Amino acid sequence: MNVNYNYEAQHSKGKLHAIERIALLLDKDSFCEIGSGISNYGSCDSSAKKLPYDGVITGHGTIEGKTVFVYSQDFTVNGGSLGLRHGRKIAHVIELAIKNKCPIIGINDSGGARIQEGVNALAGYGDIFYYNTMASGYIPQISIIAGACAGGAVYSPGITDFIFVIDNISKMFVTGPNVVKSVTGQVCTAEELGGAEVHAKKSGVAHFYHQSERECFKKVRELVKIFPEDSVYPDKFSVYVKKRGSKIANIIPEESKKAYDVRHIIDEIVDQNSFLEVQEHFAQNVVIGFGKIGDITVGIVANQPYFMSGVLDCDSSDKAARFIRFCDSFDIPIISLVDVPGFMPSTTQEHSGIIRHGAKLLYAYAEATTTKLTVVLRKAYGGAYIAMCSKHLKADFVYAWPKAEIAVMGAEGAVQIINRKEMKALSGDDKKKFYDEKVRAYNDNFMNANTAVEEGYVDELIQPSETRERLYCDLVRLRNKEEMKIKKKHGNIPL
Ligand code: HXC
Repeated sequence: MNVNYNYEAQHSKGKLHAIERIALLLDKDSFCEIGSGISNYGSCDSSAKKLPYDGVITGHGTIEGKTVFVYSQDFTVNGGSLGLRHGRKIAHVIELAIKNKCPIIGINDSGGARIQEGVNALAGYGDIFYYNTMASGYIPQISIIAGACAGGAVYSPGITDFIFVIDNISKMFVTGPNVVKSVTGQVCTAEELGGAEVHAKKSGVAHFYHQSERECFKKVRELVKIFPEDSVYPDKFSVYVKKRGSKIANIIPEESKKAYDVRHIIDEIVDQNSFLEVQEHFAQNVVIGFGKIGDITVGIVANQPYFMSGVLDCDSSDKAARFIRFCDSFDIPIISLVDVPGFMPSTTQEHSGIIRHGAKLLYAYAEATTTKLTVVLRKAYGGAYIAMCSKHLKADFVYAWPKAEIAVMGAEGAVQIINRKEMKALSGDDKKKFYDEKVRAYNDNFMNANTAVEEGYVDELIQPSETRERLYCDLVRLRNKEEMKIKKKHGNIPL
């Protein structure tokens, strides 16, 4: 269909046009539009100007040869507002993506429900929410927020798996600054309320945060590329590049409480430059992302000692749990790298419901039937030891590095509890000497992986340098794994 796209209107706002965005996202010349002739009136008045393609461009194309379905809202057509036909067009491409088992990618830039269409506009949204939910766990769903996304409209991206935001361009909120002011008296800008940075760092709504549209579309392509297509495993195993990980043994400091960046360990385990971090700026005490080991796509969940000592809290539990569920939906094997002092002790965390949030993590790991491989790098204490994909939650294999400490808690805390009465009766040097002796004894007896190995909770102690090869071997050997399933409608994950 011949249309005159209004490039200038978008460029003057520092944004790309809907059709330019599609061109950046997809392989060159691969886009096929559908429904370009569907149009509507932006008003109840039938003499009003017709809205070309009803303000949203829909179709399919490829990314690195993989078929994807796509929609892109055109803000230059009545503010990209969503009327009934606009909504139906989006719901239709989601449905097509489901039928063809391909990813769906939505580029959102809209003033929300088309006011002139009244309840019909809301019906358009309802269809989209329904198909988003049907698609969840069956095909990957990606939302790019390339402008405004206001009102209940945010719940379509909210249901999808990955949300991309762009600095100074993306705005997402349920109610805008004016409503916030009239209801609560709080004064804020749209940027402060729901700008890209807010959702990447504070709310955790966004998974990827970019400085420009071009950078954003490039990353979406990388993400789509790393999703395994039908089968998790390549038909022919690629020639495994064994020699990686020469530096891995020197990353963890001798002193068990010293921080280090677990991403350096991940880089030594996965194929070179293959790690794609998700939610990099949110709940940084846990690191999640995709990578490849010998060309096999895996999901990685790693405690991050560099940030809050890698402790688990409400946000990091949610972040990891949702990612685990994504991986499991698509049978992507999960590699857990454990170095965790426990769940975060604090009144704020308790009052925020760390019991509910931590339970999501336990539930997500226990429920996952994909291949689950765990490596205890250093410490694994208490409930967090169990929660980080221990043998008890049915990890297929659990490994520990030679200096791993698997215990109920650290020595200092343990001695304060089990020797409290004796300590109370002592004072001064005697007390200190007694305490030091007890800490030493606890360290000698409990701060290792010996019992866990003897009981079979850890399958093998391995050297850091063996890790990559061992994981690759397991990924290949366990490729036909099938977990026993209890027949039930669905479980009730603590939300
Ligand atoms: C109809 C709309 C519209 C809408 C924008 N337009 N939003 N038309 N319905 N929801 C039209 C404008 O009238 C204008 O038309 C054109 O789009 C461009 O809009 P501008 O306001 O000139 O653009 P800008 O200054 O860039 O501001 C963008 C904006 C603003 C911040 C997004 O348009 C805005 O605040 N829109 C309303 C946002 C909102 O409250 N949405 C919630 C609706 S309720 P002309 O003809 O003048 O060019 C909702 C509930 C959904 O979405 C529930 C789902 C379950």
